[in-house]
Amino acid sequence: MTRKRAVLGLIVLAVAVFLGWRFVRPMNIFIVEKDFERPVSTAIIPEPFETLSAKECAACHQEFYDEWSTTIHSQAWTDPYFQVDFRFDGSQQICKNCHIPLDRQQENIVLGFRDKDKWDPILKPNPDFDPVLQHEGVTCAACHLREGKILGPFGSDETPHPVQKMENVNQTCVKCHVVGGDRWDTFFRFPPCGTVAEITATKAMKKREPQPPSRGNSGEKVVEDVAALGCVECHMPLVERALVKGGKIRPVRQHLWRGGHDPEMVKSGLSINLLEETPPSSEKRKFTLSITNVGAAHYLPTGTPDRHLTVSLRVLDGDGRVLEEESHTLKRTILWRPFIIDLWDTRLPRGQLRTYDIEFSVAGKPPPVAVEAVVRYFLVDEKRRKRIGYDKKEATSYEVFRQRVTFNKN
Ligand code: HEC
Ligand code: HEC
Ligand code: HEC
Ligand code: HEC
Ligand code: HEC
Repeated sequence: MTRKRAVLGLIVLAVAVFLGWRFVRPMNIFIVEKDFERPVSTAIIPEPFETLSAKECAACHQEFYDEWSTTIHSQAWTDPYFQVDFRFDGSQQICKNCHIPLDRQQENIVLGFRDKDKWDPILKPNPDFDPVLQHEGVTCAACHLREGKILGPFGSDETPHPVQKMENVNQTCVKCHVVGGDRWDTFFRFPPCGTVAEITATKAMKKREPQPPSRGNSGEKVVEDVAALGCVECHMPLVERALVKGGKIRPVRQHLWRGGHDPEMVKSGLSINLLEETPPSSEKRKFTLSITNVGAAHYLPTGTPDRHLTVSLRVLDGDGRVLEEESHTLKRTILWRPFIIDLWDTRLPRGQLRTYDIEFSVAGKPPPVAVEAVVRYFLVDEKRRKRIGYDKKEATSYEVFRQRVTFNKN
């Protein structure tokens, strides 16, 4: 009896220690995949380049440079939110392979890894490290330079630099925009930043058959139909212009990559309406807000689990005071410890309509005179912002919809 108890006690203790450790251990929320375990090699710098800086490209491709400069890609390193989060997470080498993906943007060279999961790299100082290039984040060469050639969609041979034809333009995005999470202790429905997986899943839902993104033998992601992902169609709008001053005019893609940081882009993905329903009784009124993801092939919002929308419906009196309020949040809720579990997801899948309503008595005092609906987009989760100590200077949320319907004007 006592022996049984002792064994049981030991088991309970072991489980407690294990769970305790799961609460304090460093948390690696994604898997280091083959695609991004090493930085992009710049061993061969083709003529006429010297440093591979975006400024060198600007000498001939000024418009592309001007557009890129306005995007978060050009700030993927200097972005203050990234910088704080990066340090909070222990300044891991792996983060650099997507945020500053060229080897010469990084202070160290990765010689190999001490652990199987590849979170503990063996490093040596990088003699070619270029701090100016580092500040360019996801710079031109990150997407365009491979093995000493410039990848381009035309495969032209009348260029001052060697060119190789891009196999598939959307493949460029897949490299960094799918961060995997398929490990024994992770139960993500979508990997973090799983924009690509969301598109695949939404398609499967339409066909009513499950189609998770498959994985190749070496661990790299195999997206069955990359061309159909459409990333560049929505994020790099077409325009007719020359690649270089005085060059041939043709359809090219603007390097704009608008997303959560751009209110107009988020608004373009949403259709929102506030309407009054048939009154449920002579004493009551009811209003419905409908919100549909009409413009994004993935969920809206997408990207890091931080991003979310809030919907608020308010009943106001004659002085604009709030008499009643209904609030909702559209976001992914993830349990991070002791195991990573995707609990629920109230974001909008492609094409999905969601409705929220508010019902109230018209007999109250003071009398209600208006209903107002406000929808806001948030870049950063407030709890997380506080936890990591991100002292925001720039706005981290903005309104995407506000409408007031006034009644009882007597
Ligand atoms: C995040 C990846 C990415 C970055 C960064 C990037 N490009 Fe591109 N670029 C692309 C893709 C994808 C295409 C192919 C677009 C298409 O389908 O035509 C492209 C096409 C081009 C083209 C050919 C014209 C066209 O639109 O097809 C030029 C020129 C070009 N890029 C120059 C630049 C310059 C200069 C920079 C830096 C200032 C830069 N790119 C940064 C992804 C990128
Ligand atoms: C000295 C001028 C010059 C510089 C510097 C230059 N390019 Fe080009 N690039 C050209 C010309 C010329 C073309 C061909 C234009 C055409 O076909 O109309 C071209 C074409 C391209 C294309 C399309 C290739 C294709 O056929 O699909 C890409 C992509 C590109 N450049 C990227 C870059 C990047 C990235 C840099 C900087 C690392 C860069 N270029 C620097 C002159 C330049
Ligand atoms: C080398 C890695 C890399 C590649 C390749 C890449 N991205 Fe990104 N992208 C990033 C990183 C890192 C960020 C976030 C930067 C930040 O916010 O600090 C980002 C952010 C974005 C955003 C968010 C903008 C916002 O407002 O927050 C969009 C949209 C985007 N990328 C689209 C694309 C598309 C489309 C492609 C393919 C043409 C692409 N990216 C290729 C690394 C990459
Ligand atoms: C049918 C148009 C459409 C397609 C196709 C599309 N997107 Fe988007 N994307 C949007 C819209 C609209 C938004 C802004 C609303 C939002 O954040 O969901 C957006 C936002 C984003 C963001 C911003 C997230 C953030 O954190 O700020 C990223 C990253 C992104 N898309 C990546 C991609 C990638 C990668 C692909 C291809 C695998 C893709 N998108 C395909 C329309 C599209
Ligand atoms: C496989 C590529 C990849 C790796 C590795 C990676 N990131 Fe990112 N990161 C991205 C992309 C792509 C985005 C844009 C996602 C989105 O749509 O929000 C991003 C966005 C972010 C953002 C949001 C920035 C903003 O402006 O809102 C933060 C913070 C961030 N990453 C931190 C990290 C940290 C810390 C690490 C290392 C532990 C890391 N990332 C590793 C690709 C990567």
